[in-house]
Amino acid sequence: MTRSWSLKWPMVVVAVVFIIVLTIPAKSQPQTNLLIQTCSPVNATNIQNFFTNLNDTFIDIRRQLSNNNTYFATSELTRFSQPVYVLAQCRKYMSTTDCLACFDFAASSIRSCGALNGARSVLDGCFLR
Ligand SMILES: *[C@@H]1O[C@H](CO)[C@@H](O)[C@H](O)[C@H]1NC(C)=O
Ligand SMILES: *[C@@H]1O[C@H](CO)[C@@H](O)[C@H](O)[C@H]1NC(C)=O
Ligand SMILES: *[C@@H]1O[C@H](CO)[C@@H](O)[C@H](O)[C@H]1NC(C)=O
Repeated sequence: MTRSWSLKWPMVVVAVVFIIVLTIPAKSQPQTNLLIQTCSPVNATNIQNFFTNLNDTFIDIRRQLSNNNTYFATSELTRFSQPVYVLAQCRKYMSTTDCLACFDFAASSIRSCGALNGARSVLDGCFLR
């Protein structure tokens, strides 16, 4: 009798720990683990204009994602003959706060591509191109 109890207790503890581990990450996480990042091999033709357009499209994307239940946004600016097209997507179960945090992380990470005229970041929680 006592022997079978002593064997069952650790099982219960393991099961409880497992449930906690499974539920906590689902609660609130921007999921900023970077899975893939690629940069195009070609620089923008006019770097100053490229960054001006890029920065403004990022601001526009961020504004769109700030609305509740918005998980997908695109923005384009073709001013100064330096077109910039941006697409961002978060996983649909994410909160607006987490989606924005994931986008911010992706946006700052994609800056490492510098003036290269194309780039893609894939994170656990969101995608930016
Ligand atoms: C792109 O421009 C940067 C900064 O002007 C320069 O350092 C880099 O070598 C250029 N890269 C290519 C592939 O032309
Ligand atoms: C664009 O944003 C980056 C990062 O915030 C900043 O370093 C850069 O000066 C900005 N460039 C322009 C042209 O607005
Ligand atoms: C988004 O939803 C939250 C919580 O439901 C609410 O407090 C907030 O006002 C909403 N924001 C917008 C911009 O609709």
